[in-house]
Amino acid sequence: MESIIIRDMLYADLPEICAIENESFSTPWSMNSFDHELMEPHSILKIAELNGHIVGYICLRVMLDITHILNLAVAPPWRRMGIGSMLLETALDELEAMQEETDFITLEVRASSHAIMLYEKHGFRVIGRRKNYYHKPQEDAVLMGMEIGGNGDEMV
Ligand SMILES: CC(C)(COP(=O)(O)OP(=O)(O)OC[C@H]1O[C@@H](n2cnc3c(N)ncnc32)[C@H](O)[C@@H]1OP(=O)(O)O)[C@@H](O)C(=O)NCCC(=O)NCCS
Repeated sequence: MESIIIRDMLYADLPEICAIENESFSTPWSMNSFDHELMEPHSILKIAELNGHIVGYICLRVMLDITHILNLAVAPPWRRMGIGSMLLETALDELEAMQEETDFITLEVRASSHAIMLYEKHGFRVIGRRKNYYHKPQEDAVLMGMEIGGNGDEMV
């Protein structure tokens, strides 16, 4: 595969990002949701680019001691090639470099999602479940989390 570039998300990226978002989720974020995150000073927003086209993105928000992974998606033709992992690793590296107060990273994901395996590979563990959290179709949410030390080392 040609080389993937991971870089910060820009406003100009939003149309391509929303196209992937609409293909990836039954209740997709609107362009306004991404726009809002771009204005957040404590967000980490990265995109993966291949041959000048966006093929994936990740959105994290630092909320003092807890960082939330809000969104992660890779365009269907480019899945299972390590791009989701690259996005996650890059965002976690940036979080570490920011030296925020965060000592825990959390997220929720559909109980049937392949993303659970991706996150487990990167040190996250299942920490809870929310019954019927999602709709279209109705499904439980799995809560996942990972502690990070002051030096960024995973402690779970
Ligand atoms: C979840 C998602 C982001 C994964 O992106 P990706 O680029 O395909 O992920 P990777 O190639 O880095 O996969 C990493 C690991 O996750 C697991 N995984 C990912 N997709 C999988 C699949 N379809 N089946 C089984 N395991 C899978 C595997 O363990 C994989 O490692 P391996 O390929 O060495 O076996 C992508 O499938 C997607 O966009 N899904 C729809 C949106 C979504 O559910 N997002 C998560 C909500 S936060």
